Amino acid sequence: MAQHDNDLHPATISVHGGAEDRVPGAPVVPPITQSATFHWATPADGELLYSRYGNNPNQLHAGIKAAALEGTEAGIALGSGMAAAAMTLLALTESGDHIVAASGLYGATHVLLAQELPRRGVQTTFVDPDEGGWEEALQPETRLIYIEIPVNPTLRILDPRPIVALAKERGIRVVCDATFGSPVNFRAAACGIDVVVQSATKYLGGHSDLIAGVVAGPSDVIEEVTRMSRLYGPALDPHTAWLLDRGMRTLDVRVKRHNENAMAVARFFESRPEVEHVIYPGLESHPDHELARELMDGFGGMVSIILAGGGEAADDFVANLHLGMAAPSLGGVETLVSQPRFTSHAGLTPEERSERGIPDGFVRLSVGIEAADDLVADFAQALGG
Ligand SMILES: Cc1ncc(COP(=O)(O)O)c(C=O)c1O
Repeated sequence: MAQHDNDLHPATISVHGGAEDRVPGAPVVPPITQSATFHWATPADGELLYSRYGNNPNQLHAGIKAAALEGTEAGIALGSGMAAAAMTLLALTESGDHIVAASGLYGATHVLLAQELPRRGVQTTFVDPDEGGWEEALQPETRLIYIEIPVNPTLRILDPRPIVALAKERGIRVVCDATFGSPVNFRAAACGIDVVVQSATKYLGGHSDLIAGVVAGPSDVIEEVTRMSRLYGPALDPHTAWLLDRGMRTLDVRVKRHNENAMAVARFFESRPEVEHVIYPGLESHPDHELARELMDGFGGMVSIILAGGGEAADDFVANLHLGMAAPSLGGVETLVSQPRFTSHAGLTPEERSERGIPDGFVRLSVGIEAADDLVADFAQALGG
């Protein structure tokens, strides 16, 4: 990354971040280097290039651009968001270590921490951010604190600053999955967070056509994440890395449109009697609205609603949509809707979901970049007119 990249705005970094020096005849768009391996005869030929090593030019370029967007020293693009989370956790811990994590993380991350890492001798204590107790949860063996901002699907915003202060005092790292905001709305590193994890499948890629992940942070951490990914193998395929870079070029304009549309859609749902509650950090009624204003440059493209008619009303609403499509995932140009009781929270009982603020009737919307008026008209007809 060129030294000046960090001084540029996200819109400019989206387009130019990680660009090669300009030489006559250089392609405007980096070509896809669809090669597993590269000519190398003796150590005098420099570092051995092999696409699983993370040094394929397309994979490198995507990682450098993502780091520039996050404002960190280094970054690596990997084969999925879960690869990014898993390689980070493996890089920062060893047997006997301890992690403190927020409760209510993305489901697979929670399972990784609660069930998988204990099999490798790494234990996690979960803290409910509403109840606090971060300091009490720390142990001498604690190596990192893992949080998510904003949280899926309740869109709560956790204030990372006291957690960062505590971690600095103890000399441990803070890792944050910042997928829902994207670096356009929320730059976690600017809040003192050490390592940022993104499911690049979502806003960074932005077109629901690829699976990828990104880790951005200090060089020593990214070196260790790279070492893990060379061993465990979740390299990002060159073609997918190229698509990810192509997606990132329009990140800033897309996210701004997602933000605008989501606000319009949230205000519309607020006006409808069929909707018991609208959850959007941009609304004054959101419990973390003031914090979101302080920490974020935009409130994001995710809106959740709770329909007064419960699960049946939610099923009808989803079935009646013409534009919004029922599908998991988020962050693409098209509007997607999902019901957590069938997806991320299917493993819980209705009572357990209700306790977590996700009663039946809860619909999560990933608001796309279509015309807001068309989306509102579609939602209105799906609610019954
Ligand atoms: C917040 C969050 N983190 C991580 C992931 C995992 O990303 P991927 O599906 O790219 O592995 C997801 C996927 O939905 C997510 O929503």
